[in-house]
Amino acid sequence: MDEDLKVKESTIGINLMLKEVIEGLSKSRKELPCKYFYDERGSQLFDEICSLDEYYVTRTELDIMRTYIDEMSEVMGRQLMLVEYGSGSSEKIKIILDHVDGISTYVPIDISCQHLAKSATQIAAKYKKLEVIPVCADYNKPFSIPEPKNEILHKIVYFPGSTIGNFHPVEARKFLSRIKDVAGPKGGLLIGVDLKKDTTILNSAYNDSQGVTAAFNLNQLKRFNRELGSNFDLANFKHKAFYNDKEGRVEMHIISQAPQEVRLNGTTISFNKDESIWTESSYKYSLAEFEAIAKDAGFSVKQVWTDKNNLFSVQYLNVENY
Ligand code: AVI
Repeated sequence: MDEDLKVKESTIGINLMLKEVIEGLSKSRKELPCKYFYDERGSQLFDEICSLDEYYVTRTELDIMRTYIDEMSEVMGRQLMLVEYGSGSSEKIKIILDHVDGISTYVPIDISCQHLAKSATQIAAKYKKLEVIPVCADYNKPFSIPEPKNEILHKIVYFPGSTIGNFHPVEARKFLSRIKDVAGPKGGLLIGVDLKKDTTILNSAYNDSQGVTAAFNLNQLKRFNRELGSNFDLANFKHKAFYNDKEGRVEMHIISQAPQEVRLNGTTISFNKDESIWTESSYKYSLAEFEAIAKDAGFSVKQVWTDKNNLFSVQYLNVENY
């Protein structure tokens, strides 16, 4: 196997992680940014979640992609740069690269540098004519895309998986507005958006019977122990997830099983029994709710594809106000 593609790395510093973790755990309602799920092990666990029966998200999005890829290709046009946010080792991108002829340059962006290097190398080996420019970055922060060699007519951002649901709605609007700036005039956004549905489906998707989601949630504590030198005792914390109907989101938490103290680089964090660390929100939208957010961010919804049970949607948005 060739050496992995060289990744343009913008540093995801330990100092920033330390600062954000201490800040989050010092709040009266403890919380952690969900980006820290995705170290190498966390990315593997997330891939496992995606193939679980209970986690309808990935399977349904893939079905929609496979069914409507020709319509998507038509709407996306030609000579385009496809910028994928949070690329991982996604099968979805392979559906696009197999069927959308208009892509000249592919820019996968991911926070997990090793995972990214591996998957970008595989893509470049499979699609020999494609220019592949991997960028290791936190796409929540400003980042730059190196100049492509190919001549590009427009940019389309691809943001699958309903990761947009992991932002609170106000932040989602700001984030979409930054995507609009990356896509630029004549640009577009192909985005996966999870839809509101029966609560039982949601609760079992985030509390799978094999405990993979629980392991994914708790893995970040292991990561902090390894990378920040903290001393979380994993036996003393438990995963919890539920759909909050009023807020329209699945919430994931880590619950302290006992009163305890954790040391983190000279700071002591105290936990009461049953105290929660809020680790993730996963908002579920109606089509109208999402359209309103997209419009506020400067996009117009051009086309929406859903599955027959209306569990999930893939949407193509045009940059409207630039
Ligand atoms: C990445 N994101 C869209 C997933 C979700 O469903 O919110 C992360 C996840 N959390 C638990 N299971 C999967």
